[in-house]
Order: sequence, then C-alpha cells, then structure tokens
Amino acid sequence: MEELSVEGLEGSLKTKFIGKEIFVFESVSSTQDVARELLDKGVSEGTVVLAEAQTKGRGRFERNWFSPPGVGIWASLILHPKFSDLTPGSGLTTISLTCSVAVANAIRKVTGLRTFVKWPNDVLLHQKKVAGILVEMAGESIIVGVGINVNQEQFSESLRDNATSLMIESGKEVSRISLIGEALHQLEYYYILLKEKGFAPVKKKMRNISAVLDRQVIACFNGKKVVGQAVDVDMDGALLVRLDSGFQVRVVAGDVSII
Ligand code: BTN
Repeated sequence: MEELSVEGLEGSLKTKFIGKEIFVFESVSSTQDVARELLDKGVSEGTVVLAEAQTKGRGRFERNWFSPPGVGIWASLILHPKFSDLTPGSGLTTISLTCSVAVANAIRKVTGLRTFVKWPNDVLLHQKKVAGILVEMAGESIIVGVGINVNQEQFSESLRDNATSLMIESGKEVSRISLIGEALHQLEYYYILLKEKGFAPVKKKMRNISAVLDRQVIACFNGKKVVGQAVDVDMDGALLVRLDSGFQVRVVAGDVSII
C-alpha cells in the first residue's frame, strides 16, 4: 500500500497555491474538523488536510462518509473566496459544482475512466458514486471536503448498490499520490476560473459531463418530492426541473436521483 506523506506528495504537485501547505494524519475524526482548527490558528488559503482514515467522516446532511484506512482520498481544502469578489453564481452550490467538475476531471485524467457529475456534489462512475464534495462555511472562509473511493476492493452490502471505487471499476490499483496531485491541480484551475470568469465557463464544462441534465429525475427538497426533467442549472447553481405539467421548479438544496 502506498502511504501518504508530505514529502511523497510534493513531487506530484503542479499547483501555485493549493497544497503549498499540506498536513497528513494517520487517523482523525474528520479532516473538515481538523481544517477548521487550523483555520482558527491562521493557516493560509490553499492549505490541505489529508488523513489515511477518518473515524467520523461526514457527507451532506450529516450523513456518514465511510473512510477506511489507506484506500481513499479523504481531504479538506481551505479557501477564502471573498464572496463579494465572485461574479454571479457566487453561492456555495456553484463552488460545490465547480469542485465536483474538477474532481471528475482529475479522475478522468489519471485513470481514463469516464466520470460524471451528479448535481450538486457527486462524482459518478458507471452510475455509482465514486467521490463526493462537501462545502462548509467557516466564517469568511470555506472548507471543501473531498472524498474519493480509490482502492477499496469491495463495499458492505448496505453501500454496494450505490458506491464504487476506482479499483473496482478499473480492476487496477490507482496511485493516490498521483490522483491527489491531479485533483489539487484541477481544483486550483477551476477555482481560479470561477473567481475570475464566474460560473458560466464552469457550467459549460459541467454540462458536458453532467449525469442529470436532460434526464428524468426525482428531486427531493424542502420535504417535497417531484418528478420531471432536469433542464438546466442556473447561475446560482440551483437545478431547474421541468415537471410534466410544464411548471418549472428550482431546486436550491436537495437530492436528485436519475430514473
Ligand atoms: C457527500 O457526498 O455528501 C460529501 C462527502 C465528503 C467526504 C469528505 S472525506 C474528507 C472530508 N472530511 C469529511 O468528513 N468529509 C469530507
């Protein structure tokens, strides 16, 4: 098993500011919480926290994120986006989508596997979830959590239908170090693009690799459930779903499943 270390990662970094400071831990509760503690101590933008294992990894809506040792990428990235600096589409959802595009791209580049982005934060491979993004506010900053299932050989019965890993789908072990290097590179590229040009160019890229746009979906939000066609994502990152009646709903925060 390839172990993560700051020295080992240095050789794979191609970034200007993301990952210039990296912390690697054996086991933490959640890299999100460690990043928050570091932020309180005043670390710089682009700082990355990685762990071999998490005992309380979390996803959106406080769901558990299974983070066993040595087989995944469990990372948190500190950004100071200064929201007022961002052009239209400055919400957290646009950041979540932007990071999902970056991670999907990185996986494609390193493995050749065709990943897709499922609104608002999932990366899918062969219709199963291989990676997830969690964006949390921390004062003026944000902490972007990235979880990628890399070398798991199998999943428990409860996860098997919905989750997969790069190893399961490719039949090969994937270098986490190479993938971290490419993921940070892509995250930096798309984050700068979002900051400088707004959400439009990111959205264009997302459209090409979207798992939901133009598809029939079930969207769950605000305790409601609707069925319709996912037609677009607006400049705030909200998903627009056209119902059979022709009425269009705007899903700001929620879950979608493809039917
Ligand atoms: C989701 O799919 O809902 C998001 C999953 C995000 C998981 C990552 S793993 C690293 C970071 N630490 C956490 O506790 N969560 C994120």
